[in-house]
Amino acid sequence: MKNGMNDPAGRTAERLRAAHRVLALTGAGISAESGIPTFRGKEGWWRKEDPTRLATQAAFDRDPAYVWEWYQYRRGLVREAEPNPGHQALADLERAGKEVLVATQNVDDLHERAGSRNVAHIHGSIWRVRCERCRRESHDPTHPFPTLPPRCQHCQGLLRPAVVWFGEMLAHEPIIRIENFISGGVDVALVIGTEAVFGYIQGFAMAARRAGALLVEVNPGQTPLSDAADVRLQGPAGAVLPRLVG
Ligand code: APR
Repeated sequence: MKNGMNDPAGRTAERLRAAHRVLALTGAGISAESGIPTFRGKEGWWRKEDPTRLATQAAFDRDPAYVWEWYQYRRGLVREAEPNPGHQALADLERAGKEVLVATQNVDDLHERAGSRNVAHIHGSIWRVRCERCRRESHDPTHPFPTLPPRCQHCQGLLRPAVVWFGEMLAHEPIIRIENFISGGVDVALVIGTEAVFGYIQGFAMAARRAGALLVEVNPGQTPLSDAADVRLQGPAGAVLPRLVG
């Protein structure tokens, strides 16, 4: 039987059992085992596609149908995907009565479909659309759209995916939620499946640490946050997280 104190996973599991407030910062890696490609991995989107041709306002203005073909394809992948044990483990923490905020960079809805109820989508949702003309934003699960690009039913303006593209400002609402959660104190911060390329992700992780959290990274690889983490659990989220929460 491993002693929890010298076994990083055991130490983390013990801290999670005692925790009241848990922040989970997630990225594409937590959905990889559900069959959704990551962005920078060896099979990732940005190895095959040029992000500036798919995930920018300029690309959309240039060819909205082309950009929508990619998002329509990704909406299909998300619809066919199922939450994996990594998503389920985070939902189990909530079901165990802990205060959990899942702050995700992912635009899929697998956290919600696993049962997580407190999810902040830092980069928006692939199931939401926004009209370029009247600015109305709504949940639109239509799949597939009869024609691309889809149009607003109110003003016939072009609809775009309501996600954050490169070079765009983050929406305030999810950021405020994350900052408010952290200001209330954090016992454990789990950074799961993200390359942590964006400064705000690193900022949230370090702010959680300053708010009292044990900073735990769950990732098979090394990232810019790895050296700052108190605990590094090097493995796939779908295998590591259930062991922490079980
Ligand atoms: N379990 C845990 N982590 C994994 C797994 C897995 N099964 N598989 C891969 N990973 C890790 C990789 O090692 C990598 O660190 O997930 C991370 C995925 O990194 P990225 O592909 O860069 O995804 P992410 O960090 O979420 O990207 C952030 O960049 O392109 C934008 O908007 C896009 O939201 C995205 C953002």
